[in-house]
Amino acid sequence: MKIACVGAGPAGLYFAISMKLRDPSHDITVFERNAPGVTFGWGVVFSDQTVENLQANDPKSAKVIADEFAHWDDIDVHFGGETITSSGHGFIGIGRKRLLEILQDRARELGVGIEFNAECDPADPKWSDYDLVIASDGINSRFRDAYEDAFGVDVETRANKFVWLGTSKVFGAFTFAFEKTEHGWIWAHAYRFAPDCSTFIVECSEETWASFGFDRMDQAEAIAACEKLFAKYLDGHSLMSNAAHLRGSAAWLNFRRIKCERWSAGNVILLGDAAHTAHFSVGSGTKLALEDAIKLAQVLNRSGLSLEAAMDEYVAERNLEVLKLQNSARNSTEWFETLERYTHFEPLQFAYSLLTRSQRISHENLRLRDRAWLEGVERWFWQRATDGRSNKTAPPMFAPFKMREMTVENRITVSPMAMYSAVDGTPNDFHFVHYGERAMGGAGLVFTEMTCVSPEGRISPGCTGMWNYDHVAAWKRIVHFVHANSKAKICLQLGHSGAKGSTRVGWEGDNMPLVDGNWPVMAASDVAWSPVNQVPLAMTRADMDAVREQFVAAVQMGLHAGFDMIELHAAHGYLLSGFLTPLQNRRTDEYGGSLENRLRYPLEVFAAMRAGWPSDRPMSVRISATDWAGDNGITPDEAVEIAEAFASEGADLIDVSAGQTWAGAQPVYGRMFQTPFSDKLRNEGKLATMAVGNIYEPDHANSILAAGRADLVALARPHLIDPFWTLRAAAQLDYRDVHVPPQYLNGMSQLARNLKREAEAAAALRA
Ligand SMILES: Cc1cc2nc3c(=O)[nH]c(=O)nc-3n(C[C@H](O)[C@H](O)[C@H](O)COP(=O)(O)OP(=O)(O)OC[C@H]3O[C@@H](n4cnc5c(N)ncnc54)[C@H](O)[C@@H]3O)c2cc1C
Ligand SMILES: Cc1cc2nc3c(=O)[nH]c(=O)nc-3n(C[C@H](O)[C@H](O)[C@H](O)COP(=O)(O)O)c2cc1C
Repeated sequence: MKIACVGAGPAGLYFAISMKLRDPSHDITVFERNAPGVTFGWGVVFSDQTVENLQANDPKSAKVIADEFAHWDDIDVHFGGETITSSGHGFIGIGRKRLLEILQDRARELGVGIEFNAECDPADPKWSDYDLVIASDGINSRFRDAYEDAFGVDVETRANKFVWLGTSKVFGAFTFAFEKTEHGWIWAHAYRFAPDCSTFIVECSEETWASFGFDRMDQAEAIAACEKLFAKYLDGHSLMSNAAHLRGSAAWLNFRRIKCERWSAGNVILLGDAAHTAHFSVGSGTKLALEDAIKLAQVLNRSGLSLEAAMDEYVAERNLEVLKLQNSARNSTEWFETLERYTHFEPLQFAYSLLTRSQRISHENLRLRDRAWLEGVERWFWQRATDGRSNKTAPPMFAPFKMREMTVENRITVSPMAMYSAVDGTPNDFHFVHYGERAMGGAGLVFTEMTCVSPEGRISPGCTGMWNYDHVAAWKRIVHFVHANSKAKICLQLGHSGAKGSTRVGWEGDNMPLVDGNWPVMAASDVAWSPVNQVPLAMTRADMDAVREQFVAAVQMGLHAGFDMIELHAAHGYLLSGFLTPLQNRRTDEYGGSLENRLRYPLEVFAAMRAGWPSDRPMSVRISATDWAGDNGITPDEAVEIAEAFASEGADLIDVSAGQTWAGAQPVYGRMFQTPFSDKLRNEGKLATMAVGNIYEPDHANSILAAGRADLVALARPHLIDPFWTLRAAAQLDYRDVHVPPQYLNGMSQLARNLKREAEAAAALRA
């Protein structure tokens, strides 16, 4: 094949090498706009996995690269006057310039032509002479932009400013240095990539950058300012730029996240940064570029594979990798963009939060990397959780948490889950067994399902209620059992279905109206949940008074039944959520329009409930922290205001859910997908939160808690199938201080023994 590679970065060069290795008869020319030796950037970091991939693809260049690697293990986080050092991270780095030299030499050796000072214009007719034109022209790819529509390009320009500098100061560890200045926070990511040189990336928010006047400084002035700011880390060494071709403040960039729906158009194929980018804070752009190159060369040289099939395989495999990486890169980028959320943390927790920011590194990964350091974090967590009474080194999920005078034994909760199994609102033996079993399973706190304050406030005919004394008696029996047979506390979730009422039980059709016997529903406005649901009556002030009093009466009945805690359900599009979200609330009176107005009635209900509930017992509110509707609905920023408003009325905990507030929402699902909202509300609103949503492993819970992303962790579906989730986690983590019902002790010790044996066998296999 006759092939042109546009751009002699890692992608273009390594693709040319990989093609020639597979078939020397390919005629390949790499065109590079810059002169030899002129490039941006300093060092790049790799993982062991990438090195193995290079080794398998081309042992010869892999050896030259590996011989020149700088290795280091430690990460130093300088923050708040302390240096927190953790070890076992295992990084490998190399200078970008050196990497390119090695690849150029290897490419030439294999017969690849390289033309420097060759600016390529996508409009040039010469490209049609090639079988393939590889657009390996980097993040600002002209070739990608020329066929933007064909590639389905999606660009997101991120908020922070950064500049990629170098220094002769040799850092012994991967270094993050955070400095608080009168203009705001500014920080450096620094690491050694050669015996005498380190990368030094400076990053800050756009506001801080402008406030410093970096926008008005030339490069020399900006470098001098950074040297002064980071003098104590540089030990007299200077900072250097090799972006001389970028003039003035242009050397400062905003990261651009690129993704493309399609990676080929006509004879042009995208490779590396031209197709996708990953934020520098996860250090994987070069890895992706090199691995793209290997895969593309593999499929193009596989005999019998058509070009179309080759492209399908290339894109399918590489896109998956890119999506995974872009996901964690997004978390990491956002962490730095929202840095001020975490600057009130103590240095140890700040460092933990930084290390786990992308969600690729978890609590147990950190234990493998540096057990002593992680145990220090656990000890710190327990000290804070017990006001210094415990120095325990144990997983955070087992630490107690106090709200008012109620202390939960551990941080795991059974999330509210409608069971649709009551008759006339009365819980029965199913509920008795269901809640009793989940309490004995070890969770610190068990939430009831949404229990409705009136018959017409039910979602379905099977919902539990709290509007008469049959209900009180039935709940009392359950609460009594929980208290007598477990250490769990039990919280009554109270709600009113609003526009989502009068529907079938969950497994007969979500939100589908009853086949017969529908009752009239009411809501903030006369907006139906969906075309098949009935149009609710917009509530009058008299209706609002009546419903508020139903909530207050239910609270008092909850007190009689012996509940430890009350939760107000103001999420998921039910009545109070329907007031909060502009997607349902179309009122023109003082209960609609602005957020202040939309909050008025839910707050009134909550305040009345709080007044009727003992001041030594806690209350929480569940909210949907986003409507998943962009600016048309509740945004996470508004959710902070909502959470703060409830907290100022006496809510001790915000239970942070998301969505289910309008029928057309398109949530972005994934592991722990709602936890970022809990993180935001907790750390911007400075309040206690509970995270929920696809959290299913003990490692998830421990990572969330230690990083300060939530105070409690709720699991719903995992508890449906495993009431003993918490005890199983205790056995798995070899934590012995958890309460086990005495009747079950033998089972617990057998499980712990078996899991330990399994873990040892797996470790032996790995070794
Ligand atoms: C601050 C910062 C730190 C980073 N740190 C790391 C890290 O630690 N680890 C890591 O793996 N990655 C890192 N990256 C990302 C990494 O630099 C890129 O992902 C990687 O270089 C992508 O390789 P590429 O070959 O696709 O593109 P590039 O390396 O950008 O190469 C593209 C080449 O094409 C040339 N070119 C462009 N247009 C034309 C044209 N029209 N005609 C001719 N030539 C053209 C350019 O001059 C360039 O040489 C970092 C990036 C930044 C910005
Ligand atoms: C069967 C079922 C019923 C649910 N009922 C309620 C409910 O009554 N009240 C509520 O706030 N959330 C309810 N939810 C939502 C859960 O509490 C939880 O937020 C959601 O399932 C995400 O957590 P998970 O990924 O751990 O399942 C329900 C979820 C399920 C699976």
